[in-house]
Amino acid sequence: MNWLPDILKRIAEQSYYTKPDGIKKEHVRLDSNENLMLSKEFTFDVINEAIQDIDLRLYPDERYEASLYHQLEKYLGIDQKYIAVGSGSDQIIELLLSTIGHGKRVTILSPTFSYFVNRCQLHGLELTTVPLEREDNTIIKNEFLRVAKQSEIIYICSPNNPTGNQFDKDVITELMLTLKNKLILIDEAYVEFGRYSLTSMATKYENILVLRTLSKAFGLAGARVGYMVANENIANIFKSRIQLPYSLSTLSLRLASIALARFDQVRKTIERVKMEREKIFERLSNISNIKAYRSDSNFVFVECGGQLYSEITRKLKHELVYVRLLGNIDGRLGCIRVTVGTREMNNRFLEAIESASKSHST
Ligand SMILES: Cc1ncc(COP(=O)(O)O)c(C=O)c1O
Repeated sequence: MNWLPDILKRIAEQSYYTKPDGIKKEHVRLDSNENLMLSKEFTFDVINEAIQDIDLRLYPDERYEASLYHQLEKYLGIDQKYIAVGSGSDQIIELLLSTIGHGKRVTILSPTFSYFVNRCQLHGLELTTVPLEREDNTIIKNEFLRVAKQSEIIYICSPNNPTGNQFDKDVITELMLTLKNKLILIDEAYVEFGRYSLTSMATKYENILVLRTLSKAFGLAGARVGYMVANENIANIFKSRIQLPYSLSTLSLRLASIALARFDQVRKTIERVKMEREKIFERLSNISNIKAYRSDSNFVFVECGGQLYSEITRKLKHELVYVRLLGNIDGRLGCIRVTVGTREMNNRFLEAIESASKSHST
């Protein structure tokens, strides 16, 4: 057998998502953009309600899936014929790339969600990248159009991970209407913290597909529940042919339905995240030599510069504050991405970074 080593070698050469390691209980975790404003009691209550009426000896019951679709329909104000669920939006992305995406060319903005890039590479999809405007992370419209016209698939993360911003709605809408013969994937993992959603476009146009998740605002990252909003035909084919028969566990189906029904509680935490986000932005903006970018999500993108970056990473490590260390990206030096956590967590992060910058300048 001589083909297997070649394939394995090609796969082993791909860049891949690395899970955080060396994390201790004492660490302040601000690296994965979960909703840390939701109390543990919220999750506990959701779990408690979920376990009342499930039987894990059985395969997931149709009723539970029906109930999740019903809750999503209510939450989104969109008929369930446009919705399809998956085991996290990661899984939906994976399935789309490996089936519909097979052999296609994809245009992305840079920087963007690294998992998406990795999965395109794994499946051998040809990627073309259009850098965001360096100063303010906006889209360079004409350049994007020029490149995107040569692809079959477009991926736009809105709000964008890791930069945190949502692009101008008029620009995005114009791009979508111009690129009518492309499959446009809009990743709205963080949309609950943002300014606008494009789900209504997905129900209207057959080439637009919006990806959503319950991992962020709804606090269910551990339950692995995502969904897509797309035209009826895509949603149908995805549900019946592409998705695995039992992609979500009974427990996850129940947890998701119950959490969606408690959106009022979630909404309050979203408002608090937004307030803390403004505070973080203001405090970081007062530190000389670093640049914080305005965010429409539950994390903030910060450029620390070449020298200060090592001082900041050292201090954060010492204070057991764990953020996403991104390093240099597209000419931006020493970047980090920090999740908006509880007030205490955010203060611990801010104090560490303020102190690092002071000791650097003295
Ligand atoms: C932009 C973006 N899309 C999708 C996901 C994955 O979400 P899920 O937990 O639903 O797989 C993430 C997770 O970090 C993300 O940042």
